[in-house]
Amino acid sequence: MSAVQRGRQPVLKVTGLKKAYGAIQAVGGVSFEVMPGEIFGVIGPNGSGKTTMFNSVLGQITPDAGSIELNGRDITRLSPLELNKRGVGRTFQTLQVFGKMTVRDNLLVAAQEHKGTMFSRMVAPGDSGLGPKADALIDQFRIRHVAHKKAGELSYGQQKLVDIAMAFMSEPDLVLLDEPCAGVNPSLVGGISTLLKELNQNRKGSFIVIEHNMDFVMDLCHRIMVMVEGTVMAIGTPAEIRANKQVLDAYLGN
Ligand SMILES: Nc1ncnc2c1ncn2[C@@H]1O[C@H](COP(=O)(O)OP(=O)(O)O)[C@@H](O)[C@H]1O
Ligand SMILES: [Mg+2]
Repeated sequence: MSAVQRGRQPVLKVTGLKKAYGAIQAVGGVSFEVMPGEIFGVIGPNGSGKTTMFNSVLGQITPDAGSIELNGRDITRLSPLELNKRGVGRTFQTLQVFGKMTVRDNLLVAAQEHKGTMFSRMVAPGDSGLGPKADALIDQFRIRHVAHKKAGELSYGQQKLVDIAMAFMSEPDLVLLDEPCAGVNPSLVGGISTLLKELNQNRKGSFIVIEHNMDFVMDLCHRIMVMVEGTVMAIGTPAEIRANKQVLDAYLGN
């Protein structure tokens, strides 16, 4: 809890966010704030609007209503690239690594994308002075032994680590992680949690984490938001969420 800086302006402030797909109200008026240094969990059944909320915050889709502020500035209509330049990173629910490139080149490409140099990305991964940053992350993520292997040759869990490391190449202040443990061998889940805690402590970054693995969420997150049918059912500390009768009935079960 020590990394959270309370009493300050939120890093992210989402107000009255709405997004419908035809008759389906995927997100129906969601509001929440994420504080500097906070790890903010998002849980809820499949189809409750978690990914749609993420994609709205990340500029991937345009919400029907509501506003999104990053460090007090409106970012509601900015593109993903603009957001990345302003310090917002993400990982996707599915792997986004380039299987035929080495792990290290995947990291270099991720950073070049951030800089918008599509040309250098297509011609050659090169280094562009980003080598030291890639190497630091490779060590931090404990993937040095596979750094020069093609990413596609790694286990799913290791590829997931590469995927997460890629999001950190642009040194984001806010990272959104969509199901970082999905499909990962249970023996690796603790490692991902430890890593995210380290990154949170060392970089003072804020994270929003969607995840179904309840032990992981309860252990990692400072606060948790429960989404049900596109709305916020509760926001609170892990202890508060565990004790919330409505949440127990609707989602956590008995
Ligand atoms: N691109 C889309 N087109 C149509 N319906 C969508 C689209 N994306 C999401 N939905 C619908 O919106 C609802 C919320 O989906 P989603 O945000 O993916 O939920 P979650 O991530 O919590 O599982 C679901 O009913 C889903 O089928
Ligand atoms: Mg989802």
